[in-house]
Amino acid sequence: MQPRHVAIIMDGNGRWANTRGLPRVEGHRKGAESVRDVVRAARQVGIECLTLYAFSSQNWQRPLDEVEALMQLLREYLLEERQEIMENDIRLIAIGHIERLPAIVREPLDALIRDSSQNKSMTLCLALSYGAREALVDAARAAIRSRIPPEALTESTISSYLPTRDLPPLDLLIRTSGEQRISNFLLWEAAYAELYFTDTLWPDFRRGELYTALEAYAGRERRFGLTSEQLRAKANE
Ligand code: IPE
Ligand code: IPE
Ligand code: MG
Repeated sequence: MQPRHVAIIMDGNGRWANTRGLPRVEGHRKGAESVRDVVRAARQVGIECLTLYAFSSQNWQRPLDEVEALMQLLREYLLEERQEIMENDIRLIAIGHIERLPAIVREPLDALIRDSSQNKSMTLCLALSYGAREALVDAARAAIRSRIPPEALTESTISSYLPTRDLPPLDLLIRTSGEQRISNFLLWEAAYAELYFTDTLWPDFRRGELYTALEAYAGRERRFGLTSEQLRAKANE
Protein backbone atom coordinates (compact mmCIF):
# COMPACT_ATOMS: atom_id res chain seq x y z
CA MET A 1 0.00 0.00 0.00
CA GLN A 2 1.16 3.50 -0.77
CA PRO A 3 0.79 6.20 1.89
CA ARG A 4 -1.67 8.99 1.14
CA HIS A 5 0.12 11.51 3.31
CA VAL A 6 3.90 11.59 3.84
CA ALA A 7 5.65 14.11 6.07
CA ILE A 8 9.39 14.72 6.23
CA ILE A 9 11.59 16.27 8.90
CA MET A 10 14.33 17.47 6.57
CA ASP A 11 17.34 17.42 8.88
CA GLY A 12 21.12 17.41 8.51
CA ASN A 13 21.87 20.37 6.24
CA GLY A 14 24.32 21.91 8.72
CA ARG A 15 26.23 18.66 9.22
CA TRP A 16 26.37 18.07 5.48
CA ALA A 17 28.09 21.44 5.08
CA ASN A 18 30.32 21.05 8.15
CA THR A 19 31.83 17.78 6.97
CA ARG A 20 32.82 19.54 3.74
CA GLY A 21 34.26 22.58 5.48
CA LEU A 22 31.46 24.73 4.03
CA PRO A 23 29.26 27.30 5.79
CA ARG A 24 25.90 25.91 7.01
CA VAL A 25 24.00 27.91 4.42
CA GLU A 26 25.59 25.81 1.67
CA GLY A 27 23.92 22.80 3.28
CA HIS A 28 20.58 24.59 3.16
CA ARG A 29 21.17 25.47 -0.49
CA LYS A 30 21.91 21.84 -1.35
CA GLY A 31 18.90 20.82 0.76
CA ALA A 32 16.66 22.96 -1.43
CA GLU A 33 17.72 20.79 -4.38
CA SER A 34 16.54 17.73 -2.45
CA VAL A 35 13.20 19.46 -1.88
CA ARG A 36 12.81 19.95 -5.63
CA ASP A 37 13.64 16.33 -6.43
CA VAL A 38 11.50 14.81 -3.68
CA VAL A 39 8.47 16.97 -4.51
CA ARG A 40 8.72 15.92 -8.15
CA ALA A 41 9.06 12.25 -7.26
CA ALA A 42 6.16 12.36 -4.79
CA ARG A 43 3.93 13.90 -7.46
CA GLN A 44 5.00 11.28 -10.02
CA VAL A 45 4.27 8.31 -7.76
CA GLY A 46 0.89 9.75 -6.82
CA ILE A 47 1.29 10.74 -3.16
CA GLU A 48 -1.79 12.81 -2.27
CA CYS A 49 -0.12 15.03 0.27
CA LEU A 50 3.50 15.80 1.13
CA THR A 51 4.18 17.87 4.23
CA LEU A 52 7.71 19.26 4.63
CA TYR A 53 9.09 20.62 7.90
CA ALA A 54 11.06 23.56 6.54
CA PHE A 55 11.33 25.86 9.56
CA SER A 56 10.25 25.23 13.13
CA SER A 57 9.06 27.85 15.59
CA GLN A 58 12.21 26.98 17.56
CA ASN A 59 14.43 27.67 14.53
CA TRP A 60 13.84 31.42 15.03
CA GLN A 61 16.39 31.13 17.85
CA ARG A 62 19.20 30.26 15.44
CA PRO A 63 21.84 32.91 14.61
CA LEU A 64 20.29 35.80 12.72
CA ASP A 65 22.45 35.34 9.61
CA GLU A 66 21.34 31.71 9.31
CA VAL A 67 17.66 32.66 9.73
CA GLU A 68 18.07 35.35 7.07
CA ALA A 69 19.78 32.94 4.68
CA LEU A 70 16.97 30.41 5.18
CA MET A 71 14.34 33.08 4.45
CA GLN A 72 16.19 34.09 1.30
CA LEU A 73 16.35 30.46 0.14
CA LEU A 74 12.66 30.03 0.84
CA ARG A 75 11.87 33.05 -1.26
CA GLU A 76 14.02 31.71 -4.10
CA TYR A 77 12.36 28.31 -3.85
CA LEU A 78 8.88 29.83 -4.07
CA LEU A 79 9.76 32.02 -7.03
CA GLU A 80 11.72 29.42 -8.96
CA GLU A 81 9.29 26.54 -8.39
CA ARG A 82 6.16 28.52 -9.08
CA GLN A 83 5.88 27.42 -12.70
CA GLU A 84 6.68 23.78 -11.93
CA ILE A 85 4.08 23.72 -9.13
CA MET A 86 1.40 25.23 -11.37
CA GLU A 87 2.21 23.01 -14.37
CA ASN A 88 2.09 19.90 -12.22
CA ASP A 89 -1.29 20.83 -10.73
CA ILE A 90 0.13 20.97 -7.19
CA ARG A 91 -1.76 22.87 -4.50
CA LEU A 92 0.56 24.69 -2.10
CA ILE A 93 -0.50 25.33 1.47
CA ALA A 94 1.36 26.34 4.62
CA ILE A 95 0.94 25.47 8.28
CA GLY A 96 2.52 27.38 11.14
CA HIS A 97 2.66 31.00 12.24
CA ILE A 98 3.34 32.32 8.76
CA GLU A 99 2.50 35.85 9.86
CA ARG A 100 5.93 35.84 11.55
CA LEU A 101 7.69 35.34 8.21
CA PRO A 102 9.28 38.38 6.57
CA ALA A 103 7.51 40.00 3.62
CA ILE A 104 10.14 38.65 1.19
CA VAL A 105 8.73 35.19 1.95
CA ARG A 106 5.11 36.09 2.69
CA GLU A 107 4.56 37.76 -0.67
CA PRO A 108 5.55 34.86 -2.97
CA LEU A 109 4.06 32.40 -0.49
CA ASP A 110 0.65 34.08 -0.31
CA ALA A 111 0.59 34.49 -4.08
CA LEU A 112 1.35 30.84 -4.77
CA ILE A 113 -1.08 29.60 -2.11
CA ARG A 114 -3.79 31.71 -3.72
CA ASP A 115 -2.96 30.87 -7.34
CA SER A 116 -2.56 27.13 -6.76
CA SER A 117 -5.64 26.74 -4.57
CA GLN A 118 -7.68 25.00 -7.29
CA ASN A 119 -4.93 22.53 -8.21
CA LYS A 120 -5.86 18.94 -7.56
CA SER A 121 -3.09 16.43 -8.24
CA MET A 122 -1.10 16.78 -5.01
CA THR A 123 -1.03 18.99 -1.93
CA LEU A 124 2.38 20.30 -0.93
CA CYS A 125 2.17 21.52 2.64
CA LEU A 126 5.08 23.59 3.95
CA ALA A 127 5.46 23.74 7.72
CA LEU A 128 6.91 27.20 8.30
CA SER A 129 7.39 28.76 11.70
CA TYR A 130 5.52 25.65 12.79
CA GLY A 131 5.39 23.94 16.17
CA ALA A 132 2.92 21.21 17.03
CA ARG A 133 2.48 22.33 20.63
CA GLU A 134 1.70 25.86 19.44
CA ALA A 135 -0.81 24.41 16.98
CA LEU A 136 -2.49 22.50 19.82
CA VAL A 137 -2.59 25.64 21.99
CA ASP A 138 -4.14 27.56 19.08
CA ALA A 139 -6.72 24.78 18.64
CA ALA A 140 -7.61 24.82 22.34
CA ARG A 141 -8.01 28.60 22.25
CA ALA A 142 -10.24 28.42 19.18
CA ALA A 143 -12.40 25.74 20.80
CA ILE A 144 -12.80 27.80 23.98
CA ARG A 145 -13.59 30.90 21.95
CA SER A 146 -16.35 29.05 20.11
CA ARG A 147 -17.86 28.17 23.52
CA ILE A 148 -18.04 24.50 22.72
CA PRO A 149 -19.47 22.62 25.75
CA PRO A 150 -16.73 20.44 27.33
CA GLU A 151 -18.81 17.27 26.79
CA ALA A 152 -19.06 18.06 23.08
CA LEU A 153 -15.29 18.15 22.65
CA THR A 154 -14.14 15.04 20.82
CA GLU A 155 -11.02 13.94 18.97
CA SER A 156 -12.57 15.01 15.71
CA THR A 157 -13.41 18.48 17.08
CA ILE A 158 -9.80 18.95 18.13
CA SER A 159 -8.65 17.75 14.68
CA SER A 160 -11.03 20.24 13.10
CA TYR A 161 -9.24 23.12 14.83
CA LEU A 162 -5.78 22.01 13.72
CA PRO A 163 -4.15 23.48 10.61
CA THR A 164 -3.96 19.98 9.08
CA ARG A 165 -7.74 19.55 9.26
CA ASP A 166 -8.23 19.29 5.49
CA LEU A 167 -5.31 16.93 4.86
CA PRO A 168 -5.51 13.13 4.66
CA PRO A 169 -4.45 11.28 7.84
CA LEU A 170 -0.67 11.16 8.25
CA ASP A 171 0.58 7.73 7.16
CA LEU A 172 4.35 8.01 7.03
CA LEU A 173 6.73 10.32 8.89
CA ILE A 174 10.33 10.36 7.65
CA ARG A 175 13.28 11.95 9.45
CA THR A 176 16.70 12.20 7.89
CA SER A 177 20.17 12.65 9.44
CA GLY A 178 20.08 9.85 12.02
CA GLU A 179 18.22 11.81 14.71
CA GLN A 180 15.32 9.90 16.16
CA ARG A 181 13.02 12.54 17.56
CA ILE A 182 9.91 14.44 16.55
CA SER A 183 11.18 17.98 17.30
CA ASN A 184 7.70 19.42 17.83
CA PHE A 185 6.33 18.29 14.45
CA LEU A 186 2.76 17.01 13.93
CA LEU A 187 2.42 15.56 17.44
CA TRP A 188 -1.31 14.92 17.18
CA GLU A 189 -1.28 13.78 13.55
CA ALA A 190 1.56 11.30 14.09
CA ALA A 191 -0.36 9.28 16.67
CA TYR A 192 -0.61 6.30 14.30
CA ALA A 193 1.83 7.30 11.56
CA GLU A 194 4.58 4.88 10.63
CA LEU A 195 7.97 6.34 11.52
CA TYR A 196 10.97 5.97 9.23
CA PHE A 197 14.45 7.11 10.19
CA THR A 198 17.44 7.21 7.88
CA ASP A 199 21.04 8.25 8.53
CA THR A 200 21.14 10.02 5.16
CA LEU A 201 21.58 13.78 5.56
CA TRP A 202 18.83 15.82 3.89
CA PRO A 203 21.05 17.25 1.08
CA ASP A 204 21.83 13.64 0.07
CA PHE A 205 18.18 12.51 0.28
CA ARG A 206 16.92 12.23 -3.28
CA ARG A 207 14.07 10.34 -4.97
CA GLY A 208 15.78 6.94 -4.62
CA GLU A 209 15.72 7.37 -0.84
CA LEU A 210 12.03 8.30 -0.98
CA TYR A 211 11.29 5.10 -2.90
CA THR A 212 13.19 3.10 -0.26
CA ALA A 213 11.08 4.70 2.47
CA LEU A 214 7.89 3.95 0.55
CA GLU A 215 8.97 0.30 0.18
CA ALA A 216 9.63 0.08 3.90
CA TYR A 217 6.18 1.53 4.55
CA ALA A 218 4.58 -1.01 2.21
CA GLY A 219 6.11 -3.78 4.32
CA ARG A 220 4.69 -2.51 7.61
CA GLU A 221 1.59 -3.89 9.25
CA ARG A 222 -0.49 -1.06 10.67
CA ARG A 223 -2.49 -2.65 13.43
CA PHE A 224 -4.07 0.41 15.10
CA GLY A 225 -4.27 -1.54 18.34
CA LEU A 226 -5.80 -4.68 16.84
CA THR A 227 -4.20 -8.12 16.42
CA SER A 228 -2.81 -9.43 13.13
CA GLU A 229 -5.59 -12.02 13.10
CA GLN A 230 -8.26 -9.35 13.43
CA LEU A 231 -6.70 -7.39 10.57
CA ARG A 232 -6.69 -10.46 8.33
CA ALA A 233 -10.33 -11.18 9.18
CA LYS A 234 -11.24 -7.57 8.35
CA ALA A 235 -9.39 -7.75 5.03
CA ASN A 236 -11.37 -10.87 4.10
CA GLU A 237 -14.74 -9.36 4.96
C1 IPE B 1 17.60 21.12 8.74
O1 IPE B 1 18.99 21.04 8.83
C2 IPE B 1 17.14 22.47 8.24
C3 IPE B 1 16.46 23.30 9.25
C4 IPE B 1 16.26 22.95 10.49
C5 IPE B 1 15.99 24.60 8.84
P1 IPE B 1 19.78 21.61 10.07
O2 IPE B 1 20.13 23.02 9.81
O3 IPE B 1 19.04 21.34 11.34
O4 IPE B 1 21.11 20.71 10.03
P2 IPE B 1 21.88 20.06 11.25
O5 IPE B 1 20.88 19.28 12.04
O6 IPE B 1 22.46 21.18 12.03
O7 IPE B 1 22.91 19.18 10.61
C1 IPE C 1 13.67 20.13 12.96
O1 IPE C 1 15.06 20.11 12.84
C2 IPE C 1 13.10 21.28 12.19
C3 IPE C 1 13.22 21.19 10.76
C4 IPE C 1 13.70 20.18 10.07
C5 IPE C 1 12.74 22.35 10.05
P1 IPE C 1 16.00 20.75 13.96
O2 IPE C 1 17.40 20.50 13.52
O3 IPE C 1 15.60 22.14 14.22
O4 IPE C 1 15.63 19.87 15.24
P2 IPE C 1 16.48 19.54 16.54
O5 IPE C 1 17.00 20.83 17.05
O6 IPE C 1 17.58 18.63 16.12
O7 IPE C 1 15.52 18.85 17.45
MG1 MG D 1 19.01 19.80 12.63
